[in-house]
Amino acid sequence: MSKKTVTIHGAVTAQNTQESVTAAVIRLIDGLYLKNGISDADVAGMSITVAGDLTGFSPDRAIREAGHNVALKCATEHTKDGVNGFIRVTVTAQSDNPVFNVYLGGARALSADLTKYHSIALDGPSGAGKSTVAKAVAKKLNITYLDTGALYRALGLTCLNNGVDVRDAKAVEQCLRDVKVGLDYENGVQRVTVDGVDVTAKIRTPEVSMAASGVSAVPYVREKLLGIQRDIATGSSVILDGRDIGTVVLPSAEFKFFLTASAEVRAKRRFDELTAKGQKVVYEDVLNDVITRDRNDSTRAVAPLKQAYDAVKIDSDNMTADQVVGFIIDYVEGWLQ
Ligand code: DC
Repeated sequence: MSKKTVTIHGAVTAQNTQESVTAAVIRLIDGLYLKNGISDADVAGMSITVAGDLTGFSPDRAIREAGHNVALKCATEHTKDGVNGFIRVTVTAQSDNPVFNVYLGGARALSADLTKYHSIALDGPSGAGKSTVAKAVAKKLNITYLDTGALYRALGLTCLNNGVDVRDAKAVEQCLRDVKVGLDYENGVQRVTVDGVDVTAKIRTPEVSMAASGVSAVPYVREKLLGIQRDIATGSSVILDGRDIGTVVLPSAEFKFFLTASAEVRAKRRFDELTAKGQKVVYEDVLNDVITRDRNDSTRAVAPLKQAYDAVKIDSDNMTADQVVGFIIDYVEGWLQ
């Protein structure tokens, strides 16, 4: 596919020192490249302007010294509307991806079209610790958490209760056509209802996990749940965890993370979690379930589990949940402050 020429804008603020200018401009270029899925090879040129009060070090030198091999042009811009110490970058590049302008920290004031709500997409395979992490991030940032898997689980449970084979897409659609899935928050805790009946307590069994994985491959089911997920992100700052949040549900989310771990580590975590809840499970069964669900979730035709090109990958094999939460909070705050 031939790429289009696009213009991408970005800005960041810095203190008037070599270290600060270097760190800021490199952070900006990294963000611009990540969010737009580009590299030096795609860039025709970069035009940089520096606020008149930043005389300490030239950002084009910092970009060059960081090893970027692109055409650079740098000029001074007069300080704007009380925003001091800013560096603007305009990148001309070849890209197939939607343009994502990046305004970091204090420079966000330079972009009028930034929304006041932030979306965080947290995707990854089952058992990677997404829900534990998302819950903690939501609490720390005081934003809404949507566990999207619970919606698929509610529909999986409904099929199980009606004796429907979840691999039979037609039967699944027929069973779910008139079913209403609802979402509520009670003291900040998410409740899922099916035709008004709260099923939250019934959706965490291994049988429901498998059924959820099965129904999630049915295009009708994905379509049915898309609106509920998007609605919640339009009126508030949110973190959604799932499999296709960064790729399908919220493709323009400002923050995307792909949290993963080896199948063995994930199975051990799920085993411990189920055992702690008093469920009698065998580790090998849990591991087989994890492997089967990985396969189902990543090979299905519609919205498969996949890292978005602009997602930051977090491999949590050797990280505690707290460390993953810390990483995400630092990343988000580093971008916003
Ligand atoms: O995250 P979880 O284990 O609660 O998800 C249950 C199943 O639902 C999982 O096997 C895949 C599916 N799912 C999905 O396809 N897309 C999502 N956004 C969330 C879950």
